Amino acid sequence: MPETEKKAAPAAKEETKMEKIVSLSKRRGFIYQGSEIYGGLAGTWDFGPHGVALKNNIKNLWWKRFVEDREDMYGVDAAILMNQNVWKASGHVATFSDPLVEDMKTKKRYRADSLLEQLGHDPKGMTDQQMDALIKEKKLKSPDGNPLGDVGRFNMMFKTHVGAQQTEESVSYLRPETAQGMFVNFKNVKDSFNPKLPFGLAQIGKAFRNEIAPRDFIFRLREFEQMEIEYFVDPRDPKRVNEIFDVFFDEQQQFLKEIGLNPSKIYKVEVPDADRAHYSKRSIDTEFDFPFGQKELLGLAYRTDYDLKAHSEASKVDLSYFDEETKERFIPHCIEPTFGVDRLMLAVLSDAYSEEEMPVEAGAGEGKSDEKRVYLKFSPKVAPVKVAVFPLLKNKPVLVEKARALYSTLKKELSSVGVHGIEFDDNGNIGKRYRRQDEIGTPFCVTVDFDTIEQGTGVTVRNRDTGKQERMSETDLTAMLKKELAK
Ligand code: GAP
Repeated sequence: MPETEKKAAPAAKEETKMEKIVSLSKRRGFIYQGSEIYGGLAGTWDFGPHGVALKNNIKNLWWKRFVEDREDMYGVDAAILMNQNVWKASGHVATFSDPLVEDMKTKKRYRADSLLEQLGHDPKGMTDQQMDALIKEKKLKSPDGNPLGDVGRFNMMFKTHVGAQQTEESVSYLRPETAQGMFVNFKNVKDSFNPKLPFGLAQIGKAFRNEIAPRDFIFRLREFEQMEIEYFVDPRDPKRVNEIFDVFFDEQQQFLKEIGLNPSKIYKVEVPDADRAHYSKRSIDTEFDFPFGQKELLGLAYRTDYDLKAHSEASKVDLSYFDEETKERFIPHCIEPTFGVDRLMLAVLSDAYSEEEMPVEAGAGEGKSDEKRVYLKFSPKVAPVKVAVFPLLKNKPVLVEKARALYSTLKKELSSVGVHGIEFDDNGNIGKRYRRQDEIGTPFCVTVDFDTIEQGTGVTVRNRDTGKQERMSETDLTAMLKKELAK
């Protein structure tokens, strides 16, 4: 056979960016499959030490910006289990559902819009009837090649029973949004704090949805976390209501900038009538370029008086507001900025994921020039580990002792300015440690070497993004780290 006709060996399937992120997340203690040792549970993921730290950093920045630094926001933490009447009044029992279509043969169920997308159609804005008609007209088949049934509805709330009796009265649901915990506490906060409009309630907490098709790692989960604000405004001034809506949109973008997301990957999408939630008069989604496409990251909705009115009527408790000045009583309207913590984490992880060839001088001094380096270019504000301190060699007690002492000092000094995430690392050789810290996204690695002790010339500090090492005194190091990390 001539040279040119030689069959090339089948190329090893190249990992997609998402697959690389999933395996790095597991390898470096960010995110593990839920119930992994039992084969997992679809739509659930567990967060390891670095994942928790990343998550907490995002949540703390959000809480500081939207609650602590403001005068008009009240933090709450409502129960996940709520009286079933909350969900009847809110409309979730009747309408919180996704379009469902069944494979007539295997009885496997699919989310109709996701399946249409998968089959190359654009279901955006389509009603169930339109999706049904499209499936019939094009004779679309399930992924297993079988005919599909009619498009129906599937309620996504997880139903449970509270107490030993299992009756209609004992039914409860795991909350599908944190929002309702705030509407039902509107009166409590108003009575305790007597705030003047406009003011908001804010909450961070878990939400649960029995998604038909959980997918894309931590993008669509069955158990996830939300950070939501229900901001109450005076409906008698619609111009002001619109202004507040716009200000919140800007605030959302500012927050995304603060956690380090690349603005060129962020899109503003006005949600069309057909796609809006049942309670919303206007919605703007913020979408992000995830490795699997441009998808919703967070939302902003004008919920009007829908919820307070519904709960007033259903509970027979007056949820109106009395304006002392004009002596008028009315139900406030509500603007809701909502953020998904897990989606933000995924956006941050995928935006930070970087690969590059590492020059010898920028590495540990022992890497090869053609070596590929993987690193997470986290903003220091969200990085789970901010500084890692190493002894050059782990079998030289003099270096280990000095590095440990420096680690303790830095931990104390940085903690005093609110910076946490300082790690001591003497695992493997220094090259391995750099690689590990790069994959954790640690902005600064500090090494104690023989010159530190013998010459008193300070320590080396390696910058994660440039790979450059700089020698500096311990005093300068502390000052530099405080300046860079306590911004
Ligand atoms: N209270 C309004 C509300 O819940 P939503 O658009 O249904 O609105 C808000 O959800 C945010 O919660 C979304 O923008 C997304 O970030 C996150 N989210 C919703 N469903 C999710 C899921 N299944 N998995 C992960 N995050 C989800």
